[in-house]
Amino acid sequence: MDLLFKGGTVVTATSSFKADVAVKNGKISAIGANLKPEKKAEVIDAKGKMILPGAIDGHTHLAMPFGGTIATDDYFTGTRAAACGGTTTVFDFVLQAPDGEGMWDAVQRRDAICKKDGPAIDYSYHVGVGNATTQEMLDTMDECVNNGITSFKVFMVYDFGVDDGQFFNVLQHAAQIGALVGVHAENNDVNKCLNAKYLAEGKTEAWWHYMSKNEAVAGEADVRAINLAKMAGTSLYIVHLDNKQGVDAVVAARAEGYPIFAETCPQYLAFTKDVYKDGIPSLGLRARDFVCSPPMKGKESQDALWNGIKTGAVSTLATDHCPFLQSEKDWGITTKDGKPGNYTTIPNGCAGIENMYPYILSEANKGKISFEKAVEIAAANPAKLFGIDYCKGAIEVGLDADIVVYDPKKSFEVKNAENQHGALDHTIWETSKFKGYPTSVYSRGKMVFDGKDYVGESGDGQFVKCKKVKFKGPEF
Ligand code: URP
Ligand code: ZN
Ligand code: ZN
Repeated sequence: MDLLFKGGTVVTATSSFKADVAVKNGKISAIGANLKPEKKAEVIDAKGKMILPGAIDGHTHLAMPFGGTIATDDYFTGTRAAACGGTTTVFDFVLQAPDGEGMWDAVQRRDAICKKDGPAIDYSYHVGVGNATTQEMLDTMDECVNNGITSFKVFMVYDFGVDDGQFFNVLQHAAQIGALVGVHAENNDVNKCLNAKYLAEGKTEAWWHYMSKNEAVAGEADVRAINLAKMAGTSLYIVHLDNKQGVDAVVAARAEGYPIFAETCPQYLAFTKDVYKDGIPSLGLRARDFVCSPPMKGKESQDALWNGIKTGAVSTLATDHCPFLQSEKDWGITTKDGKPGNYTTIPNGCAGIENMYPYILSEANKGKISFEKAVEIAAANPAKLFGIDYCKGAIEVGLDADIVVYDPKKSFEVKNAENQHGALDHTIWETSKFKGYPTSVYSRGKMVFDGKDYVGESGDGQFVKCKKVKFKGPEF
């Protein structure tokens, strides 16, 4: 035994119970009452604290080239920030290059960058499919699956997105090889039409970003994506679900027995479209700082998402962490080429990697959901969906000792300049107050956060192999 967490309350996706937790060689080796420390074991007093599994952030964009620049956090600074918020595994997106690059080649290209940066915590990838036009290209999905990457994402928007035919091909192929397909669902053509109309009318402010990607633009695509998955006879994972029509469609499909799953993000639970009116001037946050895709929606959608979490229609929480500097957000006023900017010239994406687990646990602490539900959506369910529940996502004997010691009495206020650990110059979470916070975080039994600072080492993070997945219905 190397570590013994004594006197805490273990929280799983289904129950909470008082127990000691022992760790040996980076794995949880025993859970039980009154465990005796072995010689040389470090004893961590967890009285009054909760022992939680590290969160799994299934949606990050580290050092990703996007919107004419590169997302601010690299694989080290982003994962360092994640660790300091209790996230111990991230799934980052690899985007296939448009020059005919195969998917496994794309993974290797990005993994070389990741290894050079030196990730602080364990990581894996989803492959963002940009080209699925030929069987030869689809076959490159198999190489990914055989090498432990079993999830893919298609974009129904953006210039590098795929059409419905390619999407359908990816779904069918994924079903054959034991993979899960995620989708960014927004109606690209309607979005483009609205952009042309608004810009011709001189409507250039961030509000029109929301209007061009409003509830109906997202909801239609959610419904279409679900129908395509039904036609292909396979499962589907809707990423960053943000609207009521989409939630309703997921609920209906799951009630019919289809394996349709949805992820939402803290920004859709905490903010509404109102942020695109004025931003939060007192915090120096301008409306353009909140520009991400999809944009935050109205209160009705926010309520539907919370309800979806409570009823199980929303299976996971992830961040979509994709931060940009305020000077890059300013391209919405003047582009980097010095031309007049507008909402379409703002790089899309916001920060959140350090705030996801503290945010949802704080909501649990305030009674909005149970702690078990918070653990379920932030750790247990992503582990099951992405095929890593054999090693992560729960406090269980034999699993990796990815452990968060959480003090429900510790209060924390986000102050980017003082207590955040990424490479950001601002965050939409500035001054958010959390009830409860991690007092320490362990990655495979090694402390990475001591309650204040990052105490791990760059390069400690390891690639996590995902097993093949197949979901016959909405249950895991
Ligand atoms: O605004 C965002 N989310 N940027 C990253 C790309 C995406 O759509 O997930
Ligand atoms: Zn997306
Ligand atoms: Zn994303």
